Amino acid sequence: MFRVPRGAFDVVPPRSEVLLAVRDALAGPVRHAGYGYIETPVFEETALFVRGVGESTDVVTKEMYSFTTRGGDELTLRPEGTAPVLRAVLENRLHEHGLPVKVWYSGPYFRYERPQRGRYRHFSQVGAEVIGTDDPASDAETIVLAMDAYRSLGLTGVRLLLNSLGSPRSRLPYRDALQAFLRGLDLDDDTRRRVEQNPLRVLDDKRPEVQAALREAPVISDFLSADDVRHHDGVRSLLADAGVPFVDAPRLVRGLDYYSRTLYEFVHDGLGAQSAVGGGGRYDGLSEMIGGPRLSGVGFALGVERTLLAVEAEDVPVPVARELDVFAVALGTAAGRRLFALVTELRRAGFAADLAPAGRGLKGAMKAADRSGARWAIIAGDRDLAAGVVQLKDLRTGEQRAVPWDAVLPAVTSLPK
Ligand code: HAM
Repeated sequence: MFRVPRGAFDVVPPRSEVLLAVRDALAGPVRHAGYGYIETPVFEETALFVRGVGESTDVVTKEMYSFTTRGGDELTLRPEGTAPVLRAVLENRLHEHGLPVKVWYSGPYFRYERPQRGRYRHFSQVGAEVIGTDDPASDAETIVLAMDAYRSLGLTGVRLLLNSLGSPRSRLPYRDALQAFLRGLDLDDDTRRRVEQNPLRVLDDKRPEVQAALREAPVISDFLSADDVRHHDGVRSLLADAGVPFVDAPRLVRGLDYYSRTLYEFVHDGLGAQSAVGGGGRYDGLSEMIGGPRLSGVGFALGVERTLLAVEAEDVPVPVARELDVFAVALGTAAGRRLFALVTELRRAGFAADLAPAGRGLKGAMKAADRSGARWAIIAGDRDLAAGVVQLKDLRTGEQRAVPWDAVLPAVTSLPK
């Protein structure tokens, strides 16, 4: 027997219905806010991620599914959506028809990570990007829409962590100060190398002894320029106006190198180690990094599976797709043919209807009807066929009455749901 590859998973009914509902809910607020839907391929040129996400990030050095095609192209299964979406916006010249460009997306992403609860090698995100604006209102808008998505699911345990990484000009002296501080610590060889290559990443080290050593580390907020501070204060006051509470997290960094200024993460305490249910931020230099014009941007991606885990941890009921209205049971071949036509007609009329598989006895078929969750059963055997009727049964009360064949559709249409 084959098994699903390590780090990947199947989602099967009935949980899959909840997953669908979660995905729809996460996309609801951005769709309602006028963002256009964008779809890009699941693979891109490897260099897009190396340049966009950052050469020394874990994502690029350890986690990419990269391959050479038969034709010799170097491709990678997308580990994230921002660089591809920006590539597509530039390539399709969406930025030439008025700014900002606001788009949302949803789909699978791939990272070769060590699998654990909430951390998979194949997972899905719902994301949104606002491209071509420096306005702090755009940063705040993305945060409010993401928070509204979690709230629409009834989640109460999602916390927002907020930081500003400043613009590259303020980050440079901070990088130097942080590096000087880190060089004075007793660190292992790997971490020392990181100090030289990408010192901000060290702040993200989860080991308690490293976190303890970092307590005295310089913080970026002491290095922000007046413009950075004005931008950050703008975001913070708009969030306060929108009733979105946040926690200032001056040591928050994220695993992708393209961020500048606003940086945020949504965390949930019911998930264990992988507590980030979503994250995002501003990426003002990314367009130039991937060969485009100067174009700022801000956005987020929300993890669908982790949000599902949060929904399950809080035990909030998620309304799933409607169950069946009608379940049809045919006893005999002739009745089966007639009911097949009737069920087709009912489905076309907008009813959720199903038909029991042929060849089952009445008892087994009625069990299937009960299990289906349908409100009504339509039962027909050869005798009913001869009499020109079907039996219409209310599966909640058990009441049953005969209805002429040609009156079934009007009868079902007038039934209370
Ligand atoms: P990210 O923080 O890498 O950001 O991913 C966003 C979310 O995807 C995470 O908060 C988490 O919920 C989910 N996620 C990431 N990796 C995994 C995994 N291995 N297994 C399960 N869930 C996972 C980005 O991807 C950026 N592109 C977000 C962004 C958009 N920034 C600006 N615009």
